[in-house]
Amino acid sequence: MEGYPDQRQALIVKSSNVTNVEHKVSSADRTARSGHRGGVLWFTGLSGAGKSTLAMAVEQYLFQKGFHVYVLDGDNVRRGLNVNLGFSPDDRAENIRRVGEVASLFADAGFICIAAFISPYRADREHARAAAREGFHEIYIQADLETCERRDPKGLYRKARAGAIRDFTGISAPYEEPASPDLAVDTAGNSVEDCVQRIVDYVDRAFALAPLGEDAW
Ligand SMILES: Nc1ncnc2c1ncn2[C@@H]1O[C@H](COP(=O)(O)OP(=O)(O)OP(=O)(O)O)[C@@H](O)[C@H]1O
Ligand SMILES: [Mg+2]
Repeated sequence: MEGYPDQRQALIVKSSNVTNVEHKVSSADRTARSGHRGGVLWFTGLSGAGKSTLAMAVEQYLFQKGFHVYVLDGDNVRRGLNVNLGFSPDDRAENIRRVGEVASLFADAGFICIAAFISPYRADREHARAAAREGFHEIYIQADLETCERRDPKGLYRKARAGAIRDFTGISAPYEEPASPDLAVDTAGNSVEDCVQRIVDYVDRAFALAPLGEDAW
């Protein structure tokens, strides 16, 4: 398996004569209204590790508690915004670059944005972190390849082993594990409910949430 290519194309900035326009609504205004800060929960991990399952469950939980929360999911984004991108290292980098910028906009808007993407390259995840600055939280959704392959919820590992899918993470393309994630959740040894609870507990601590009402947790 190849590592991250050294010769990756640098981002070509084509826009010029662009001026920043200031908002009249501040982050503090948004926080005061919603009762919580915005930020990005970046879920990374192998296909089948449980990113989408946990992202949607955490979104539902937080939504029901009154939070502004939204999931950007890899499969969904590739059907729209990133429909023109494949799975080569350069296309994966551009996929994550765009999503990192979009997630950062959601965070600025006061949302807790859960981004569920394999995002196999460390450098790409660091770009996403740079876009959202201190509001970025890397959550490693961790399961060994054997477990993911046994689950194979979309039948993709089977196809990849048969050679029908190229550049498949873990089989024919690399996955670079997070060196020091903000949180690592082991989905191979824990139930969905326990994993959701760990993430929600983390959100509670990391976002230092103001009480939203009597039933806030
Ligand atoms: N503790 C757990 N957390 C999450 N998923 C689990 C857990 N235990 C078992 N599973 C199962 O593992 C599978 C995970 O599939 P899911 O689609 O969420 O993976 P994914 O990481 O989003 O993969 P992809 O990158 O291909 O989109 C589901 O079938 C889910 O029910
Ligand atoms: Mg998924």
